[in-house]
Amino acid sequence: LDNGLLRTPPMGWMAWERFRCDIDCRKDPTNCISEKLFRDMADRLSEDGWRELGYEYVMIDDCWMSMQRGSDGRLQPDPDRFPGGIANLARYIHDRGLKLGIYADMGSATCMGFPGTTLDKVELDAQTFASWGVDYLKFDGCHSNAIEQLIGYPLMSKALNWTGRPIAYSCSLPAYLGGLPPNVNYSYLGNICNLWRNYDDIEDSWASVKSILDWYSTNQDDLQPAAGPGHWNDPDMLIIGNFGLSLDQAQAQMALWAIMAAPLVMSNDLRTLSADARAILQNRVAIGINQDPRGIQGRRLLQELGHIEVYWRPLSHSANALVFLSLRQDMPYLYRNSLANLNFPAGSFEAYDVFSGKTLSGLTDHTIFTVSINPSGVVMCVSGQLFYGSVKEEAVKFP
Ligand code: DGJ
Repeated sequence: LDNGLLRTPPMGWMAWERFRCDIDCRKDPTNCISEKLFRDMADRLSEDGWRELGYEYVMIDDCWMSMQRGSDGRLQPDPDRFPGGIANLARYIHDRGLKLGIYADMGSATCMGFPGTTLDKVELDAQTFASWGVDYLKFDGCHSNAIEQLIGYPLMSKALNWTGRPIAYSCSLPAYLGGLPPNVNYSYLGNICNLWRNYDDIEDSWASVKSILDWYSTNQDDLQPAAGPGHWNDPDMLIIGNFGLSLDQAQAQMALWAIMAAPLVMSNDLRTLSADARAILQNRVAIGINQDPRGIQGRRLLQELGHIEVYWRPLSHSANALVFLSLRQDMPYLYRNSLANLNFPAGSFEAYDVFSGKTLSGLTDHTIFTVSINPSGVVMCVSGQLFYGSVKEEAVKFP
C-alpha cells in the first residue's frame, strides 16, 4: 500500500502468541490483557534498547474490547482492564517514542467473540482508531462472509486513508482464503494493505516455525514477488524468548525471518526475557538484513539430502545474505559448497558470520568453504556492506 508507511517490515511487539486471551486480571494481574501489560511492554521497549534498534510498535491483539459497542455505536475497550481508555494508552506509548497498534475483525465477531466490524461499521471504526491516535491496525477475518471479505478489506483501506492519520494496515484476509493464487490476488492486495498474514498462526514450538517456513518456501514463487517496500508477507510473530525454542532454533527463526523480509514482531515477555534471547533479537546485523531498504524477500535456494537447506537474500549495494539451515537431529553437520555454486558472480568476498561475529576473508567464488551447522540451527552470513533501517543510516560495515 502506497501510504508512505512500512517501507521496511514493521518491528515491535504484539500480545497474541504469548498472552492470548487472558482476561482474568483478578487471578493473573501481571499477564492479563490490560493497559498495564501494554504500558509495561512500552517501558521495556523504550528502556532496554529495543526502540533504538527499530522495535517501535506496541500492538494490542484480540480481547481488548468491551463485549458491547457504546451507545454511539463505537467500539470501546473493556472498562475494567483499560480504565484509562485507548487514547490515554496511545499517549503513554507516543511519549516514549513508540507507536500503537490495535486489532479489529472484518466480520460479525472477532475470533474470540468480541464485537466485529460489519460493513456498516468500517468507517466508524477507522475514525475511532484515528481519533485515539492509533498507528497500526491488524484487521483479522474470523466470522466473515465472502462479501465482507471482498468489500470490507479495501473499504477499510480507504476509510483509514480518509481519516488523514497515517495508519499502517495489516490484512489477515489471505490466511482465510488459503493464502495462494487464484484465491488470493497478491498484486491487488499490495495496493490496499501494508502487510498480510498468509498462513497459520504461529505456536510456541519448533514444529510450528518449521511448518511455516516450509509453507513459505514451497510457495515462494507465488509469495516472494508479492513483497516489497510498503507491502509485506507476514509469516507471523517471533516467539524467541518463550518456552518452545532452543537457542539454536531461536537463532534460526531470527535468521529466516530476516531472509523472508518478515515483520520482526515479538510476542514474548520483555520483562523476563533471558540475556540469550535478547542478544538474538537485538542482533544488529540480523536486523539490518531484515530492514534492508531494497526490500527484496529472500528465497530457499536449495534443499539437500541430509536435511540441509540454503536460503539467500539479495541486499542493497550488491550485498548478500545467506542462511544455512540444518533440519538434522544428530550432530553438527559440516556443509561444504562454493559461492559460485550458489549463483554468486565471479569475484572475491568477505563473509561475516552474523551470530558468531567471525569474518571469513579471502573467499573467491570458487573457494570450497565449510560451515558447521548445529541440529535445528543455522549459520547466517552476510557479504558486502549493510545498510540499516529505512533512513539508510549506515550501521555496520564489512570491508
Ligand atoms: C487469529 C489471528 O491469526 C491471530 O494472530 C490472532 O489475532 C487471533 N486470531 C486472535 O483471536
